[in-house]
Amino acid sequence: MNAPATHTIDVTLGARSYHVHIGHGLLDDSALWRGAIRGRHALVISNTTVAPLYLERVAKGMDGLQWDTFLIDDGEAHKSFDNVGRALAALAKLGATRDACVIALGGGVVGDLAGFTAACWMRGIDFIQLPTTLLAMVDSSVGGKTGVNLPAGKNLVGAFHQPRGVFADIDTLATLPEREFRAGLAEVVKGAAIGDAEFFAWLEAHADALAARDQDVMAEAIARKVAYKAGVVARDETEQGERTLLNLGHTFGHALETAGRYTTLLHGEAVAVGMVLAAQLSQQLGMSTLDDDTLRLQRLLDTLGLPTDVPPGMDPQQLLTLMRLDKKNTAGTLRLILWRGIGRAEIVAGVNEADVLAVLQAAV
Ligand code: NAD
Ligand code: GLY
Repeated sequence: MNAPATHTIDVTLGARSYHVHIGHGLLDDSALWRGAIRGRHALVISNTTVAPLYLERVAKGMDGLQWDTFLIDDGEAHKSFDNVGRALAALAKLGATRDACVIALGGGVVGDLAGFTAACWMRGIDFIQLPTTLLAMVDSSVGGKTGVNLPAGKNLVGAFHQPRGVFADIDTLATLPEREFRAGLAEVVKGAAIGDAEFFAWLEAHADALAARDQDVMAEAIARKVAYKAGVVARDETEQGERTLLNLGHTFGHALETAGRYTTLLHGEAVAVGMVLAAQLSQQLGMSTLDDDTLRLQRLLDTLGLPTDVPPGMDPQQLLTLMRLDKKNTAGTLRLILWRGIGRAEIVAGVNEADVLAVLQAAV
C-alpha cells in the first residue's frame, strides 16, 4: 500500500505564521521538524503513556541539541500549574536561553501544558507540536490556545501563544484507543457543521472509511478540518468574534460532562450530543427549518460511532443550571452557538431559558 500523501496547511498570522504538516512517518522525519527549532536547547514534554511509545523516535532526531525530557502522569488532572512549575524548573536546569524550544509530544493535555510553559519561560519562547491524538491533530495543536486547569475550573489560566510548527504523524493514531479516536472525529464533524457544508457532505460520503481508519481518508479529513480552523484563527486569533463559533455544542457539552462528573462522556462525545441539542434548539427557535439537517447530523455522528442522546439519568434542570456557568454567557443571559443549518452556525445571545429547558426535557 502507498503511504498517504502529506498535507501542509498554512496558519497565516504575519510574522507568527506557521505550517501544519499532516502525514505518515513525520516523527522520523527530523529534517522536517528540526527546521522549526532555532536554538541549541530543547525540552520535550510528554506523558507516561505516550513517551514509551514515541519518545525514542523523537530522540533519534535530537543530535547536536542540548535537550531533556519532562514527563507528566496521564490525565486531565495533570494539566496543572504545579506541572508548569516543574517544566519551567526543567528548562532552568537545562540552562535554556531565549532561543530554546519546547517540544510537545502527546495529546491535548500535553500540548496545552507545553505551550503554556513555552509562553511563560523568559516571557515566551518557541514551541512545536507533535500531536498524537486525533483531537490534538484537528483541534488543540492548532491556533495557539495554551493553558492549564485550576481547582476552580478547566482552562482558567492560559495564554495565546502560537507554535512554530505542527507535525501530525498519523501513524501514531494506530495506538490510540478506539473511543479516543471516535471522540476526535466529533471535532472533525464540528468544523464542518459550523462552517463548511461541502466538507460535511464529504464526511457523509466517507463516514464508513473514516470509522474504519482508512489512512488516506483520515489524512484528508484531518487536513480539511485543520484548514477550516486555520482560516478562522487567521481571521480572529484571540476570539473576539468568529472564533467563538468553534464552540458549537460546547455549552450543552460542558453541562453534560460536568453532570456526568467527567467519567460518563469524553469531551468529544459530549460535544457530539451537544451539537445535536444545539440543532434541535435551533429548530425550536425557528432559526433552522430544515429537519433534514438535524437528522443528517445525527446520522453522521451515529455512523462514526458517537453518541447522539443525553445519557440516562440526567436531570434537565441541573443541566440548565450548569449551562448558566458557561464563560460565553453575558449579563446573566445564555449566549449559545446555534445554526441555520449545516455549515451556517451563528452566535445567539439572550437565548430564552424556557426554550433550552424544553429541548433538554424532550431529550432525556
Ligand atoms: P489527552 O491528551 O488526555 O489524550 C487522551 C488519551 O490518549 C490520554 O490517555 C493519552 O495518554 C493517550 N494518548 C495520546 N496519544 C496516544 C497515542 N498515540 N497512543 C495511545 N495513547 C495515546 O486528551 P486529548 O483528547 O488529546 O486532549 C484533551 C485536552 O485538550 C483537554 O485538556 C482540552 O481542554 C484540550 N483542548 C485544547 C484545545 C486548544 O485549542 N488548545 C482544543 C480542544 C481541547
Ligand atoms: N478549540 C477552540 C479554539 O481553538 O478556539
